[in-house]
Amino acid sequence: MRGRLARRVARSRRPARVVAAGAERLPFADGAFDIVVSTMVLCTVQDLDAALGEVRRVLAPGGRLLLIEHVRADSPRLGRWQDRLAGAWGVFAEGCRCNQPTVERLEAAGLRVELTPDRWHGMPALVAPLLVGAAS
Ligand SMILES: C[S@@+](CC[C@H](N)C(=O)[O-])C[C@H]1O[C@@H](n2cnc3c(N)ncnc32)[C@H](O)[C@@H]1O
Repeated sequence: MRGRLARRVARSRRPARVVAAGAERLPFADGAFDIVVSTMVLCTVQDLDAALGEVRRVLAPGGRLLLIEHVRADSPRLGRWQDRLAGAWGVFAEGCRCNQPTVERLEAAGLRVELTPDRWHGMPALVAPLLVGAAS
């Protein structure tokens, strides 16, 4: 994905730079960005709390994290299945956690969430519960 993005940026007239870095340690100054975007990444980041700390650090005052993430289900039954199968799913899906309690962790990081539940159509039930929106 990064290679594809780099080729696209090279063709674009917009000033943009592709930087390779882990979310737990972003090589950017405090308050450097108005917007951070995460699509289906917080499920896979190994140290979610560290990553969210970094998001907070690099956001300017009033900045927002925009996200689309699959999360642990609100439904107790599906949530229990996600917990049971999280280990196997993680091996199959390269470290992705199907039961990631993303809202809990966003709130624990001091972010105010404005998220709408949705469904990831065409995917297994384990990763179908989606949240779309912002945290600030
Ligand atoms: C399910 S893929 C999503 C890819 C893409 N964002 C999308 O929406 O199609 C999960 C992505 O999280 C990235 N990832 C995993 N751990 C990461 C970390 N610690 N920091 C930054 N990215 C990470 C992986 O490289 C992978 O590209």
